[in-house]
Amino acid sequence: MTKHELEYQEHLLPLTREELVARLREALSPKRFAHVCRVEQTAIQLAEQNGVDVEKASIAGLCHDYAKQRPDQDFIDVIHAKQMDPDLLNYGNAIWHGVVGAEMIKDELGVGDEDILNAIRQHTVGSNYMTKLAQIVYMADYIEPGRDFPGVEAARQITAQDLGAGVAYQTQHTLEYLIHKGQPVYPQTLVTYNAWVPKYQKENH
Ligand SMILES: [Fe+2]
Ligand SMILES: [Fe+2]
Repeated sequence: MTKHELEYQEHLLPLTREELVARLREALSPKRFAHVCRVEQTAIQLAEQNGVDVEKASIAGLCHDYAKQRPDQDFIDVIHAKQMDPDLLNYGNAIWHGVVGAEMIKDELGVGDEDILNAIRQHTVGSNYMTKLAQIVYMADYIEPGRDFPGVEAARQITAQDLGAGVAYQTQHTLEYLIHKGQPVYPQTLVTYNAWVPKYQKENH
């Protein structure tokens, strides 16, 4: 894959791409930093294929896990300070780093674009309505070249053909995994399942 190193032109945040990359390098372990860089590259590629703003894909891809390594208390403080849904307190980092992390990305990195922030909010749980950008970040996180799990090749192929079918594939497999492990399902994950999975079943069979 050719490396895409953009010069940001759209003033979607008060940082250059280089400065943003430096902030992520600071906030994340080397392993997770490498992951967000791969997600950025995959998101850019999917954006080009699907006629989506490449700069937004770059920013959302880089920032999506910005908050992932923050202590629980940081998230709890933001949930209270911003009077977010108290049900969030029943979950943990896996849900918080997207839904609550978007607030930190807005406040600390200066990303004000709601399209980007929503893509980050939805990157682990999805939504019944997801913009193309949100679908791209959701899928890039799942299929970036460092991912290696049974089914990832199928996910890559399906996503290359049809972004929405990729969303359905991931959602179905994530839910299967959570249920198999007896883990709690965040309600929005079920909303995403109902909105995406039966629709693509119908189209494919
Ligand atoms: Fe994440
Ligand atoms: Fe991620």
